[in-house]
Amino acid sequence: MCGIFGYVGKKPAAPILIEGLKTLEYRGYDSAGIFVPGFGVVKSVGPIANLEKKITSDIKGDSGIAHTRWATHGPPTELNAHPHLDMSGSVALVHNGIIENFRELKESLVVQGVTFKSDTDTEVLIKLIGSLYAGNLYEAVKNALKRVRGTYGILVQDEHRPDVIVAARMGSPIVLGVGADGNFVSSDPSALLTHTKKVIYLNDGECAVIKKDSYEILNLAGKKLQKNPETVEWDLESVQKQGYEHFMLKEIFEAGEVIESTIRGRLILEKGKVRLGGMDAVLPKLASLNRLVIVGCGSAYYAGQVGRCMLEEYAGLPVEVELGSEYRYKRNLSDKKTAVLAVTQSGETADTLASLRSAKKLDLLTLGIVNVVGSTIARETDAGVYNHAGPEVAVASTKAFISQLVVFAMLTVLIAREKGMSQAEAKKILDELNALPSVIKKYLSDTKDIKKIAKKYSGYKNAMYIGRKFHAPIASEGSLKLKEVTYIHAEAFAGGELKHGSIALLDKDFPVIAIAPKDDVYEKMISNIEEVKARSAPILAIATEGDSHITDVADDVIFIPKVHPILQPIVSTIPLQLLAYYVGVEKGLNVDRPRNLAKSVTVE
Ligand code: AGP
Repeated sequence: MCGIFGYVGKKPAAPILIEGLKTLEYRGYDSAGIFVPGFGVVKSVGPIANLEKKITSDIKGDSGIAHTRWATHGPPTELNAHPHLDMSGSVALVHNGIIENFRELKESLVVQGVTFKSDTDTEVLIKLIGSLYAGNLYEAVKNALKRVRGTYGILVQDEHRPDVIVAARMGSPIVLGVGADGNFVSSDPSALLTHTKKVIYLNDGECAVIKKDSYEILNLAGKKLQKNPETVEWDLESVQKQGYEHFMLKEIFEAGEVIESTIRGRLILEKGKVRLGGMDAVLPKLASLNRLVIVGCGSAYYAGQVGRCMLEEYAGLPVEVELGSEYRYKRNLSDKKTAVLAVTQSGETADTLASLRSAKKLDLLTLGIVNVVGSTIARETDAGVYNHAGPEVAVASTKAFISQLVVFAMLTVLIAREKGMSQAEAKKILDELNALPSVIKKYLSDTKDIKKIAKKYSGYKNAMYIGRKFHAPIASEGSLKLKEVTYIHAEAFAGGELKHGSIALLDKDFPVIAIAPKDDVYEKMISNIEEVKARSAPILAIATEGDSHITDVADDVIFIPKVHPILQPIVSTIPLQLLAYYVGVEKGLNVDRPRNLAKSVTVE
């Protein structure tokens, strides 16, 4: 998600804007820029330091707006970086969010002779505002926003009116800071705290007209609203974590919003169809593939294994899943009807990138499921899908993994519909996918039982995760989470594999986490649990709400809601993420930055 910051006051604005952007760096970004009336726009790609180098002392002006970009539409380039300008070049805008109907708005402006320089949805918004601007900036913003569908947190400023900043909010946060030497506005209170603790949060549909010693809050109907400042008690770091103790916990709890962002604009429910713009050009090829090879590392590899289950079960597409560090070296016997799909949050993982390049050498169709827009792997694939999961700060992947499974479910329906899946069957899946964010938010509203269970299991030195079919990879992901953030040795096996050797490990000091939702292999999982129980191993089951039998066989149970089988792995993952998190915290470990690990493994 992007960061926005504005200031109008009595001091030179440029240094204040740069400092404001620096406090927003934790949110992740790929480019940045500022607009100072009387000077204009300065932008850069890469770290804020690159922008800072361009800020010269001749940038006067005691107001301005600034932006750190987390690319969603268009790669991270200076051209795509914010602020963007209207046709006159004198009105600037910074934006956090996604304008869903930017294409139709753009078409309506092009016929008026409006031209565009960037690939962004944001430029369409400022060109629309500029086309409506007749001297009152708030009026122009208000009238433009009435035509917009999507999410926004925006700041707008006119070169010729440096004493005013107009802000507006719909779905992306905007908070005002009321200061002694001027007023501030940002997408994130952490950017305000060094100046003031007196803040005013805008609600959706509200605007603000901000001057150095006054502000007005209005709604989109033009009605003035009375809002008094409140005082922020948090320190900077806890504000960045939005009150959560760790980024990992914040990112687990973002699952509902992340699924909303991942599916936004991509489900055509009434037709039982999926639209993945980045795959449009290759859809005919996807439908005629003989085989898909999914490549990834770590959690991304396990997401790929779940993706295989989905694609084989529902789209009838043969799939192989390969480790990035292995596929790159193997003798590749693929024919031209094979495509290679790289799954990667960072888009920079060296092993995955090397595997992708080895596939390109064979002229195979290469695809990507990537979170970081404009990353190397995103740029080197022939086609792909962005997660839109927002920046993932904690080293242990949680929300990105959830988003990867959601993309695989959408990709499965996309391909399945090309291969004969009925509209009714597809609609059943997509309706449940559309409802999934609220199912997840409700589930996350009460997780105290998991915290209690985590305490009980935090003393063990070993653990085994078991699951079957769609949940065998989830067992692997659960064990990886536990290893990563608690340093407890954990292994994962397909439930049916236990009797082939691993069960020798089990005794009263070797707990087993059994993922046993009510699905077509439930009875088999119950048999596995019985086998484990006979070896005195403690058993923690992940089971479907309302399952009264599981409590007879497991020592502890974490219940989860039942959803469509293709979506169930998404729900099953969340308690495993929380379990690892709470055990890690119980052991007093740095769960956001575990020892020996890096967020993106760009070395081989
Ligand atoms: C997951 O919790 C780990 N941090 C790690 O396994 C990660 O999934 C792996 O390095 C792949 O990273 P990527 O998704 O950025 O390619």
